[in-house]
Amino acid sequence: MKLWGGRFESGPSEVFEQFSGSLKFDRRLVFADITGSQAFARALTREGILTDQECETLVKAFGEIAREAENPKYFDGADDEDVHTFVIRKLKEKTGALSDKIHTGRSRNEQVSLDMRLYLRASTEELLTEVADLQNALLTLARKYPDAVIPGYTHLRRAQAVLWPHYLLAYFEMLARDFERLEQTRARINVMPLGSGALAGSGFPFDRDEIALDMQFDTITRNSMDVSGDRDFALDFLYACSMVLLHLSRLAEDWILYSSEEFSWMKLADEVTSGSSLMPQKKNPDSLELIRGKSGRVFGDLTALFVTMKGLPMTYNRDMQEDKEPLFDAFQQTSASLRMAKAVADSLVLNPARPAAAAEESWVVATDLAEELARGGVPFHQAHQIVGKLVLESVKLGKKPSDWNPESLAAFAPEFKPEMARLLSPAEGMKTRELLGGTGPAAVRQALTEAEARLAAQRKRVG
Ligand code: ARG
Repeated sequence: MKLWGGRFESGPSEVFEQFSGSLKFDRRLVFADITGSQAFARALTREGILTDQECETLVKAFGEIAREAENPKYFDGADDEDVHTFVIRKLKEKTGALSDKIHTGRSRNEQVSLDMRLYLRASTEELLTEVADLQNALLTLARKYPDAVIPGYTHLRRAQAVLWPHYLLAYFEMLARDFERLEQTRARINVMPLGSGALAGSGFPFDRDEIALDMQFDTITRNSMDVSGDRDFALDFLYACSMVLLHLSRLAEDWILYSSEEFSWMKLADEVTSGSSLMPQKKNPDSLELIRGKSGRVFGDLTALFVTMKGLPMTYNRDMQEDKEPLFDAFQQTSASLRMAKAVADSLVLNPARPAAAAEESWVVATDLAEELARGGVPFHQAHQIVGKLVLESVKLGKKPSDWNPESLAAFAPEFKPEMARLLSPAEGMKTRELLGGTGPAAVRQALTEAEARLAAQRKRVG
């Protein structure tokens, strides 16, 4: 069946039909398409185009189609151009000539925008829950090792000591922004486009606010041409997914490193690792590698739609049908990656002795010492110089911070007062960083409590 044809003398060629058909992927929109069409039937009824009885018949038939579409076999052998055509053919099979009225004053251009908005609204809600679940898993993992000390890195060189919960809270913040971004994305998606017609506005004076209310949209679009040509909301969604995966990819990279033999800070559970077909000893972090890998794929989805949209003349162009596969893919991969990351976090076991030793044997305390000198009145650049020399001397002699004591420090430079020697231990230096956002133990305890409250508020916002 076709939704057009009168103007044509011959039908489309087989090759064109195969090339242009989208049912094989846009069938995912079947439930959104039905929800939108049921609401549209009610709008037609308010316009007097359908009687109440006709509306009831159509809405009921749509409901049956939705139930039948639960079975994937329902689509077997269907060769309709797209999901919209498929649904109308099914409607015709059920309601005959009455179905010919359903498309009055409606275009597939606005219908596809509506369907995508309904689909992405629901997808965004799923992602919001999954992001919050992962944030929660990170907080739980932080609480398991509240006092663990790890070296923080810059340039992948040991830089300054931080608390394990402080490190995890960094990812909590990234995910909190991802959550906000998804909420903002949801707001841009949640705008009702029906009434726009093909591009010029419908020829029927629908009460568009009523239609919006019917499908719980916050508001309605303001310009019909914009609706036909716009995929900003889809790009917003892809960008929000990309940022989630960017963050997950970096977390994955960290944990691949930290669980390696070279670091041995943590163990990944058997449940989230795989073996080698050849090397019997191997336990590989494939779950994390795949998260890292999928990030590239989802950035590709974003890029694909960006490039597709760039340079399209106003308004709708069939190129825009190419938005679907990247969107479906990005949603699936982002959702699966969030769930995978949560499973890894839930089962991760930290060996706090290893990162603590890494912190102790290196000079992550150097900044603490220099700042202590500066607090004692030594100008910072001079303090930096003194501690730099201390490190140089230690490196030459093979000395760790713990090989120094109050006397030997004072002998090295008179600026070192005996009580400053306590800062040779990384856990002590952290106590000088109690300001908000720092890794001071009290600040981190407070940050953890606040994070829990913020997460509860996030969850409340999305219901
Ligand atoms: N399958 C089409 C899409 O996804 C639906 C809109 C078709 N509109 C049209 N004028 N051919 O973009």
